[in-house]
This record gives sequence, structure tokens and C-alpha cells, in this order.
Amino acid sequence: MPFDPAVIRASFAVVERRADHMAKYFYAHLFAHHPGVRDYFPEEMAEQRDRLFAALTQLVLRLESPGPLTGYLRALGRDHRKFQAAPEHYPAVGASLIAALRHFSGHSWTQEIEKAWTEAFTVIAQVMTEAAAEDDRSDSPAWWEAEVTRRRRAAPDIVVLTLAPDRPYPFTAGQYLTLCSPRVPRVWRPYSIANAPRPDGSLELHVRRVRGGLLSTALVEDVMPGERVRLGPAIGDACLVPGSRRPLLAVAGGTGWGQTKALLEQLVAEPDPRRAMVFVAARDDDDQYDLAAVEAFVGAHSRLDVLLAAPADSGDRTSANGLLTDALRAHGDWEGWDIHLSGPPGLAPEIAGLLLGLGADAGRIRHDPVPDTLNRSRPLTPSDWFLDRRDVAWINRTELGADDPHGTPPGAARA
Ligand SMILES: Cc1cc2nc3c(=O)[nH]c(=O)nc-3n(C[C@H](O)[C@H](O)[C@H](O)COP(=O)(O)OP(=O)(O)OC[C@H]3O[C@@H](n4cnc5c(N)ncnc54)[C@H](O)[C@@H]3O)c2cc1C
Ligand code: HEM
Repeated sequence: MPFDPAVIRASFAVVERRADHMAKYFYAHLFAHHPGVRDYFPEEMAEQRDRLFAALTQLVLRLESPGPLTGYLRALGRDHRKFQAAPEHYPAVGASLIAALRHFSGHSWTQEIEKAWTEAFTVIAQVMTEAAAEDDRSDSPAWWEAEVTRRRRAAPDIVVLTLAPDRPYPFTAGQYLTLCSPRVPRVWRPYSIANAPRPDGSLELHVRRVRGGLLSTALVEDVMPGERVRLGPAIGDACLVPGSRRPLLAVAGGTGWGQTKALLEQLVAEPDPRRAMVFVAARDDDDQYDLAAVEAFVGAHSRLDVLLAAPADSGDRTSANGLLTDALRAHGDWEGWDIHLSGPPGLAPEIAGLLLGLGADAGRIRHDPVPDTLNRSRPLTPSDWFLDRRDVAWINRTELGADDPHGTPPGAARA
């Protein structure tokens, strides 16, 4: 390995607490030095400005053994063709990453540290650009156009969308895609494909509206049949292990059922389907949005058991989790099972931890990557809050009434 991971980790520890500010600096630096690149990024970046920056830092930190990361980086590089990221953009991104780290490290920044980060970034960029170039050469599309052919409101906050891609869209059951709608330009989000490959090539997505969410709100409330969306290439390796005869455990929460449904469609289509147990966690009635499909699977396949972990009434997420974990514990030993986990961000780490304690083999647990986010929960110092005006109610004194000695912001209640 050309660089020293210990140097990278130690230098990042110095600045980690200010990662949110570094992300701001990173984008400001990138857009100031390469204004053309700004057009590739979404207009609204306040909520998500750390998407690329968080990934960059986390990837470099995990690069101790690049081997296991190579597949992910290759997929990421191919996926970046949809952003129109070209080889010449990579050094620009690398330079802004280094500039941000250098700025926030102050006197602790050394030439040795700069060399280590530069070399690590170069390894990552090389794997990504090589994979993208291979796809360029094979004329593989950078993205697919697809028409929304059907939309079904499955629950107040959930729609099931059927899409017809304009060209054959290769994928394996269990993978996800990224999607962008012209209603929210340049905002791409991942969604699990909720079916196994079909003869007509259509795709189904189960989308839940996230409060304040940019794309999920548009998909659940506005996008109608006849509209077109853009799809990135299928990605992810939470697929069935080819040829495995081990029993399968799948745990799904909320719209994570979509991915599980795709896996079950593939499993039951095999000549001699193996035994499978599926736990579906639903925090309320709305979460049980596809019960008819669940019942159809159970009715048609004798080697499939489905357990629904749903509170009887007025339940909340905590009680659904409690039911789920109790049921998994009650089963006892999960050694020798292939395991698939899909659901909201916290589900996979929590259930994987539980199952490992119940004998499951770490190498047989599959789930999609849990998104990297910077640690925002850690309290900042008062000066950090001051610098980060985004989170502070900033009062323009000229807007205050002359008789207001307390400077209460307009519209705010006074005790
Ligand atoms: C591999 C993968 C597969 C996914 N599959 C599906 C799927 O099949 N169906 C589906 O509905 N969603 C799925 N998601 C989540 C989806 O990608 C989006 O994150 C979600 O739709 C919100 O996007 P948005 O643009 O509406 O929200 P944003 O504008 O990105 O976020 C708005 C606010 O909501 C918060 N937020 C974002 N996502 C979530 C979340 N999932 N839970 C709680 N808070 C959140 C953000 O932190 C932010 O504060 C998947 C995510 C990943 C990583
Ligand atoms: C080593 C280099 C890079 C790494 C590791 C990297 C990684 C990532 C990751 C993980 C994401 C989030 C993907 C998602 O949420 O689906 C992302 C988003 C993005 N990347 Fe990169 N990237 C790199 C270089 C580049 C370059 C050179 C460009 C071109 C200008 C670019 C443009 C983008 C854009 C436009 C987004 C979407 C941003 C958003 O939605 O907020 N990236 N990148």
C-alpha cells in the first residue's frame, strides 16, 4: 500500500468534530475553483451537502485494505457517469478535499499527512475512473429513461410505482437503483427494486414519503403515470447467494419489504425452493401496506413461513422492534442460515448485532450499505454554533420594532 493508514486516521481525528464545517468549506472551494462543476450538483444542498464529502472521508478512512472496497468503488465509479463526472473532475475534487483538511487542521497539518491523503484519494479515484472508462468503452448507458406506467397508493405515505425503462435494464433481485425526477432536478436517491426481473422488463418501487424529503415527497405526492424519470445503473450485492441450499432468513421493516419481496420472487421461482423464514416488522397498520402479497406468498409455498411483527393497536416503532427482536430470540440459533436485512437505516446494524449473538455467521449476513453521515449528534461548542449560522436563528436588527428592547425575532413568542 503506497500510504500509511495510521497517519490518515490520526490526522482525521484532529478535525473530525468539525467535519460539518469542513464539508461546507470543501464545496465552497470546489465551486469557487471549478464553477462549471456546480451545475452537476442539486440546487438545494443545505440538507445534503455532506453526501459526497462524508463518503470521501469515510472511504479514505476505510481504505486500510482496499481489496474489499474495490467492488463498491467500481460500482460507484460506473454510477458517477450519470452525474457526468469526467476523469478531469477527480483531481479537482481531490484538491478541494485536501484544501478542506489542511484548513481545519491548522498547525498539525504536515507534508507527510498531505502525501498520505493524496495517495489514498488517488487510489480511490483510479478505481472509480477505470470502471467508468470500461463502461464508456462498452457503450453501456450512463442512465436509463423510464416511464411511470402505474402508481398505486398503498398507504397514506407510501406509493408503489411501476416503471418501464426505455432499454433493457439489467439487474439481479435484491439490488437497488438510483432515481431522479425532472420535478427535483439533479436530486438522485436510492430505491430498492421490489421485483425479480420480469419478461416485460418493468420495475416496481415501494416509496415512503419522508417528512420534508425532496424526492420522496415528489414521488409520493406528485409524480403521475406518463411522467418520465431517470435511473442510474442497478447497484448493491444484497442478493441471494448463487446455488446456496442453506435456509434463508429475511428481516424486513417498512418499505424494506420491497427488497425482500424481490428476493422471495426469485427464491420461489427456483426448481426446488429451499426453506425460508421472513420476519416483517410493521410499526402500524399503514406499514402493513402489502399484506395481500405476503399472504399470496405464504399460501403458495409450503416451505415459507412469514411472521408479522406488528403491535396490535396504537403501537409504535419501539414495540414493533421489541416484537421483532423477541421473535428472533425465540427462534434460538441462526447458525448456518443465509440472512438478508432490509429496512430503515437503523435496522440492519441493530438486527445484525442481535443475530450475531444468536449464532449467525457474520459472512452470511447481507444488507445494503447503511448511508454514511457525519456525526451531527455530537454537541458543538458555543463558537461552533456561532460559526454555523445555518442552525442559529439569525436576527436582523433592522426588522425589529423600536419598542422591542429584547430583540425578539419577528413571529417569535415572548415569555
Ligand atoms: C440502499 C438504499 C435503498 C433504499 N430503498 C428505499 C426504498 O425502497 N423505499 C424508500 O422509500 N426509501 C428507500 N431508501 C431511502 C431513500 O433513498 C431516500 O433516502 C428517501 O426517499 C428520502 O429521500 P428525500 O429526498 O425525500 O429526503 P432528503 O431530502 O434526502 O432528506 C430530508 C430529511 O429526511 C431525512 N431522511 C432521509 N432519508 C431518510 C430515511 N430513509 N429515514 C428517515 N429520515 C430520512 C434526512 O436526514 C433529512 O433530514 C433507500 C436508501 C438506501 C441507502
Ligand atoms: C474519489 C472520488 C469520489 C468519490 C469517492 C465520490 C463518492 C460519492 C458518493 C458516495 C456520493 C453519494 C451517492 C449517493 O448518495 O447516491 C456522491 C455523490 C455525488 N458525486 Fe461523487 N464522488 C467522487 C468524485 C466525484 C466527482 C469527480 C464528481 C464530479 C464533479 C462527483 C459528483 C457527484 C455528484 C454530483 C453527487 C451527487 C451529490 C448530491 O446528491 O448531493 N463526484 N459521490
